[in-house]
Formats: sequence, structure tokens, C-alpha cells
Amino acid sequence: MQLATRYPLVLLFGLTLLAAAGPAQGQGGAAPPPARKIPGITVADPVPGACVDCHVNRVAENLDVRLSTIMRNWNTAVDSTLFARVQHTAPEGATLTGRHPRLDPEVYQSVPANCLECHHRASRRAPPFIRLMHAIHLQGGEANHFLTMFQGECTLCHKLNPATAAWQVPSGPEK
Ligand code: HEC
Ligand code: HEC
Ligand code: HEC
Repeated sequence: MQLATRYPLVLLFGLTLLAAAGPAQGQGGAAPPPARKIPGITVADPVPGACVDCHVNRVAENLDVRLSTIMRNWNTAVDSTLFARVQHTAPEGATLTGRHPRLDPEVYQSVPANCLECHHRASRRAPPFIRLMHAIHLQGGEANHFLTMFQGECTLCHKLNPATAAWQVPSGPEK
């Protein structure tokens, strides 16, 4: 019983697994499944620079998804589908206009850090990125390419620093 006293969680977990496996599995238990493939955690990270490593000009596919390209005409009108999808991220009391402020090209020298100067958590005018980014990339189910193509992986944006075990969303210049 010493194991149970010192590591009650281990015992509890073992029992849960056995219960889930059912009586036919008998004693001993099955080996745990291999670790899930989590970018940057258990497998290589395809986009260590986050935003700017994924939002690139994919020349081979003739698909330019750089943020500067996507956002080029937003000061006239934001894409209506996107606009509808982000309404609920507006700060309390603010209403989005569907026109983005014209951006100094310098903003793209450090993404998302420079975006966060307006899209910070206490913003009263711009949707805070802490909600906006999750609405864009994690909501909308099967129609959302981030959830299908990229499996909605948090670690494509959030990077675990192996030395400190602290999370960080890195910033960098657009490519
Ligand atoms: C691994 C790839 C990946 C990373 C990393 C990523 N995005 Fe995206 N992003 C996507 C995809 C895919 C979509 C399209 C989602 C959809 O289908 O609605 C998207 C959509 C967007 C859109 C909306 C574009 C539109 O026209 O609807 C913005 C803005 C955006 N991302 C900004 C960012 C920012 C800022 C970061 C970093 C904090 C970031 N993204 C990180 C893949 C990525
Ligand atoms: C100068 C301040 C400022 C900067 C810098 C800025 N934004 Fe915005 N952003 C805003 C404001 C204000 C809104 C609300 C616009 C509205 O009323 O529709 C907004 C809205 C948005 C929206 C929602 C669609 C819309 O326009 O309503 C997205 C997506 C967005 N910003 C992405 C970004 C990204 C990505 C960056 C960095 C590359 C960025 N923003 C930099 C001020 C800024
Ligand atoms: C497209 C990029 C992107 C993806 C994908 C993403 N996040 Fe984030 N997340 C951000 C950004 C950017 C911030 C920081 C905003 C700020 O600093 O104001 C953030 C902040 C957060 C915070 C707040 C942390 C704090 O310091 O308080 C939590 C919690 C969080 N994300 C959870 C998640 C989870 C869970 C997932 C996956 C299911 C996820 N995020 C996926 C971009 C992303």
C-alpha cells in the first residue's frame, strides 16, 4: 500500500484506465497510447515564428496570405464574412465599423507585437487579440481552415520555452 499512500493519483489513474478498459482486459493493463503529435512539444514545430511563418506568400500555390496582403484594402472595407465572424470580440460598449485604420507599413516589422499596441487586452476600441485571434482561428468548425488544415493546434502560436516552461507568442517581421 506504500505506493498508494505516496502516489494516490497514480493509483487513481491506474484504476480509471482499468475501468475504461473493461473487465475483459484483466490485470496488468494495456500500454498507454503513444504521445499525441503536438507541434513544438512532441514533434518539430513547422512555424516557430508563429504568425509571420504561417501568413506567407505561398508562391507555388499562387496564394499570398501575408497579413499585409490580406489587410491591404481593409481601410475601405473589411471582408464581410470575416467581419461577421468577429463582432463578438469587440470591447464592451464599442461597435466595429468594418473599416480598419490605415496602418503604417512599419507595423508589419513586428507581428503581433505592433498589432497589440492597439489590440491589447484593455483596448476600448480595437478587439483585444486575446479574443480576436481565438475567434478567427478556433471558431467556425469545419469551415475554418485553421481547424482543418492545422488541426487547431494552440502551439502553432503559443510556444513553450523549454528552459523556463513559460508560454510565449513570438513576434517577428513579415517575410
Ligand atoms: C499555422 C498557421 C497560422 C498561424 C500560426 C496563424 N494563422 Fe492566422 N490564419 C491561418 C488560417 C488557416 C486562417 C484562415 C482561417 C479561416 O479559414 O477562417 C487565418 C486567418 C487569419 C486572419 C483573418 C484573415 C481573413 O481574411 O479572414 C487574420 C487577421 C490572421 N489569421 C492573423 C494572424 C495573426 C496575427 C497570427 C499570430 C498571432 C496568426 N494569424 C497566426 C493560419 C495561421
Ligand atoms: C492603430 C491601431 C491598430 C493597429 C496597429 C492594428 N489594428 Fe486591427 N483594428 C484596430 C481597430 C480600431 C479595429 C476596429 C475596426 C472596426 O471598427 O471595424 C481593428 C480591427 C481589426 C480586426 C477585425 C476586423 C475589423 O477591421 O473590424 C482585425 C482582424 C484586425 N484588426 C487585425 C489586425 C492585425 C493583424 C494587426 C497587425 C498587423 C492590426 N490589426 C493592427 C486598430 C488597429
Ligand atoms: C492564431 C494564434 C493563436 C492560436 C492558434 C491560439 N492562441 Fe491563445 N493567444 C494568442 C495571442 C496573440 C494571445 C495574447 C494576446 C495578448 O497578449 O493580449 C493569446 C493569449 C492566450 C491566453 C491568455 C494567456 C495569458 O497570458 O493570460 C490563453 C489562456 C490562450 N491564449 C489559450 C489558447 C488555447 C487554449 C489555444 C488552443 C486551443 C490557443 N490559445 C490558440 C494567439 C493564439
